[in-house]
Amino acid sequence: VKKAYIITGATGGLGKLVADALTPHAEFVLATGRKHSDREHYFLGDLKTSMNPFVSHMTRFIRNAQSMGVHYFGLFNSIGIPARVPKDASEEHIEAAMEESMKINYEIPAAIADYFAGLVNEGSIVFLSSQHTIRKPETKRTYWAPKAKLEEKTEEMAEKHQHLKVNVILPGNLGIGMSAGARLQYETNKNLVNTQMALEECIKYLANPTVTGKKILIAAHQNKTGVDIL
Ligand SMILES: NC(=O)c1ccc[n+]([C@@H]2O[C@H](COP(=O)([O-])OP(=O)(O)OC[C@H]3O[C@@H](n4cnc5c(N)ncnc54)[C@H](OP(=O)(O)O)[C@@H]3O)[C@@H](O)[C@H]2O)c1
Repeated sequence: VKKAYIITGATGGLGKLVADALTPHAEFVLATGRKHSDREHYFLGDLKTSMNPFVSHMTRFIRNAQSMGVHYFGLFNSIGIPARVPKDASEEHIEAAMEESMKINYEIPAAIADYFAGLVNEGSIVFLSSQHTIRKPETKRTYWAPKAKLEEKTEEMAEKHQHLKVNVILPGNLGIGMSAGARLQYETNKNLVNTQMALEECIKYLANPTVTGKKILIAAHQNKTGVDIL
């Protein structure tokens, strides 16, 4: 079966792991990032300012793959994150952080998914949320509030697009991009998710999903590292 994948935010972290794992097995992998890359199919740019060029690029990529016999398309939305605010941040600072976070953690992945759903006849969409949407810590509101909207979007899209399997993964802390010291602290407290396990879950829901409209929680709390479908 010929498959093609689009992975946003593929220059680092989870997006890069997924793109690298799929590249040897898929006919087409389109990756995006703001850093240069030597990938065959690559979109370079900040998606906050280059949504239209990206959508044109993605449309050409999908049409080209379809003309080469590809039927199944997977979209892995890995961009996101910066939403940190210092404890003593002013109201204005928090508001600006929320606006920025809404863009990269919700609006951009949601808009890309809407375009994608209109272009393909069969496939999957995987959104990335966070385990913080479960406990909703007040200090991390700028991070989990947009992710919670992404989870609502997952349900809406699953309902609306019966030709697609649309799911959202809620990983615990993977320790990616942490300092060695911070990582050690998390490891000691057993609050890190096993990266290989998280990668396998991501690939499963992207390449061979059997369910739609689900939240997949990969929690990391005091050694609880199992997977729960919510
Ligand atoms: N890491 C974790 O522990 C963890 C836990 C739970 C959920 N998640 C979620 O998993 C996803 C990936 O996280 P990660 O830790 O792997 O992130 P990461 O290492 O920071 O990677 C983010 C990727 O997104 C790209 N990106 C960010 N902002 C962009 C923008 N405005 N325009 C275009 N590209 C942009 C980056 O591109 P460049 O590097 O090229 O600039 C990079 O490729 C996020 O949605 C995050 O919320 C992560």
